[in-house]
Parts: sequence; structure tokens; C-alpha cells
Amino acid sequence: MHCVYKVTDNMYWIGGNDRKIRVFEGAIPVYDGMAYNSFFIDDEKTVVLDTVDEAVSKVFYENIDYLLAGRGLDYVIVNHVEPDHSASLEDLILRHPEAKVVGTNKIKAMVKQYVSWDVDEVFYDVKEGAQLCTGAHTFTFVNAPMVHWPEVMMTYEISTGTLFSADAFGIFGAHNGNIFADKYDFDLEWLPSARKYYMTIVGKYGKFTEAILAKAAGLPINMICPLHGYIIRKDFDKYINAYHTWARYEAEETGVLILYASPYGNTKNAAEILACELAENGVDRMKLIDVSATDPMDILPEVFRFSHLVIASTTYNAEIFVKMEAALFEMKSMGVQNKKVSIIQSGSWNPASGKLIREFFEGLKGIEFVGEVATVRSSVKQDSAEQIAALAREIAASVNA
Ligand SMILES: Cc1cc2nc3c(=O)[nH]c(=O)nc-3n(C[C@H](O)[C@H](O)[C@H](O)COP(=O)(O)O)c2cc1C
Ligand SMILES: [Fe+2]
Ligand SMILES: [Fe+2]
Repeated sequence: MHCVYKVTDNMYWIGGNDRKIRVFEGAIPVYDGMAYNSFFIDDEKTVVLDTVDEAVSKVFYENIDYLLAGRGLDYVIVNHVEPDHSASLEDLILRHPEAKVVGTNKIKAMVKQYVSWDVDEVFYDVKEGAQLCTGAHTFTFVNAPMVHWPEVMMTYEISTGTLFSADAFGIFGAHNGNIFADKYDFDLEWLPSARKYYMTIVGKYGKFTEAILAKAAGLPINMICPLHGYIIRKDFDKYINAYHTWARYEAEETGVLILYASPYGNTKNAAEILACELAENGVDRMKLIDVSATDPMDILPEVFRFSHLVIASTTYNAEIFVKMEAALFEMKSMGVQNKKVSIIQSGSWNPASGKLIREFFEGLKGIEFVGEVATVRSSVKQDSAEQIAALAREIAASVNA
């Protein structure tokens, strides 16, 4: 049975929610499901904007049948060809061979890689800035490469001032009853999920994100409709400013994130002692994460959030502890930059992780090291406690500078 939400008088949300999914894109743990948004415009011509993931395609087709009520489907605008949005495109066109698929050359080339029908036959080519009028609505198109794939475009509807922003402004999590962001708590229900979504999906491509934000700044926007999460109708600055901060790799918190790897608990002890010293030296904002118990994809947004980072890791067969290495790998692949970094290493016979961690961060942009590497031999003793205290003073001075 169909389940559609009215967005405006002639625009409907026709997507679906998957609350069974535990891993998104095969890599990112999600805890509250996933929403796949698609939109229907009821005009002289009928329009669908983007399709949905396979998991929710049944209700999606029912939604379209319900709204068409026997009419034909004129246009399917495709903003992003990734299968979480295009998995249903192939069948939708088989069901509605009368429809034209609308997109740029890049969209067209990628659609060809996925579907079985004759794309040249079905396609309606548009370029950036072209206009498509469907009656009361006029759509225009903007390239948005690398937010999140190279083919991505965004669609702007002129009469309503609606930006269909593809993955941008998306969040993880299925909808909880309402489809509008203004029905939710920004700090609790939007920001953390949007941050994780941005960092794990587009984090690496900050420059491209800035480029599309600059283009969007020139448009009068009354509504942003992303492909995941909620529709934004109010307080645009809050959402756009969060994106600016992330795209520029600016820290949201002046404070310290302590990541530790500690098979037997002694490196953890060193991390806790450091945190205690930091608190005594006036550092207010801190977070500690055990990398063995936390997925790297959940660590990443915290790394982006804090100005200062402490890496406390045991040595593991003369290398960095595996779980820490996995977290560092994600930081590199998502382009973490502009961090102040301090290091605690531990080892029982030849502590070597500190040098390797330093070398790792030397390979990232905008890294400044704070303090000397503190070394723990098996467990914290007087000598290492003093090194940790000295490190805490240096970090606190940098945080409070
Ligand atoms: C599998 C394994 C490999 C290790 N490899 C090294 C090593 O190459 N060099 C070293 O000095 N210590 C090595 N250690 C010792 C750890 O670094 C030791 O656990 C650490 O000093 C104490 O920290 P923890 O209590 O936080 O685990 C290894 C420990 C384990 C469990
Ligand atoms: Fe995507
Ligand atoms: Fe997506």
C-alpha cells in the first residue's frame, strides 16, 4: 500500500525507510536505519526526482502508481546514479516506457553502465543551466561533482525555490514520522548524524562541497530536499554553516579527542591519566575513545569535530596496534587535516608506535605536533607519569592559547 507525504500543494515525498539495515554502503555502521528520498511533482507533466534503494522499491512503485492515478509518467530526473538512489531506475522505466530520463552527459554515461534498456532512446539531455518546464514548475540543473560521486548534479525548481541537493544535507537514520527537519531537534537529531554522514560519505571532497555551496548561495532557496534524511525549510544558515565548517576542515570544538589502543589496559590508564591532567590544567572539552571497541567510521566524525587529537597506542609486532591503524587509515582516506596532534606510545620491549604515528601524521595536511612523544613501558611508572604530565601541560597551553 502506498505511503506518500505532501510536501507542497503539488509536490510529494514518495521514498521509503529501511530500518533493518545495519551497514550502509558495505562499510558504515548505521544504528537507526536509512531513509531514501524521492519526490513526485504533480503538474501538467508528471515528474519523479530520483529513485530509491532496492530495499524500499516496492512501496516506491506503489507511491508512483497512486499519484499517477492512471496517467503516464513524463520525466524521471536523476541527480545521482549510485544504487542507493538508482537501483529502482531500471524497473521504473520498464514499468513506464513512456517516461524520459533527465540528466547531464555524465549522468547518462553512468546510467548506461547500470541498465538494460536503450539509454539514448530514453534520455532527455540537459546541461548545467538548461531549463525544463513542466507547467507550473521550471527545473534547472547544476553540476555537483564529487558530492558524492563525479556524475552528481543538483536540480533547482524555480517557482518554489526548491533545491534537490542529492546526497548533500543528507543524514543517516530512517525518518521518525515527520519528513521536515524543523520537526526535529537540530543539535540532537540532525547535527551528529549529518556530521557522520558528511565525514564518511563526502569528507574527502571539501573543496567540491565549498564550490557547490558557493553556487547555491546565488539561488533564492525556500526548501532543500536531500536524498537522505529530512527536508529543510527553515534556518538554512544553521545547516549551511555546518557544511562550511566541515568542508573547510575547521574544528567545531576547541578541545581534545583522546584515541587509545590498549589490549591490556595500561595504555588506557595512560590516556585516563592524561585526561585527568588536562582537566586539572583547565581543558574543558574532551572525549576518550577506545579504538578497539569503536568502528573507525564512528571515530572519524569525532576526529573532524575536535581541534586537538591525542593518539595513545601500544606497539604491536613492531607496528601501530591494528585497531588504531584501521582508525588512522580512515582518517587518511577521508582527508583529515588541520589538527594539533600529540602522541603516547607504549611497548614492553621496543616501543615503536610513536615514531610510526608521527610519520603517519606527517603525511597529512596542516598537522602541528604538540609536545614530545610520551613513552610507557608496560605500565605507567613515575618516569612515564612525568612525561604524561608534561605533555598535558603542553596540550593545555595549546588548547587555551
Ligand atoms: C600481540 C602483541 C604484540 C606486541 N608487540 C610488541 C612489540 O612489537 N614491541 C613492544 O615493545 N611491545 C609489544 N607488545 C607489548 C604491548 O605493547 C604491551 O601490551 C604494552 O606495553 C602494554 O600496554 P597495554 O596494557 O595497554 O596493552 C605486544 C603486545 C601484544 C599483545
Ligand atoms: Fe551517494
Ligand atoms: Fe546516497
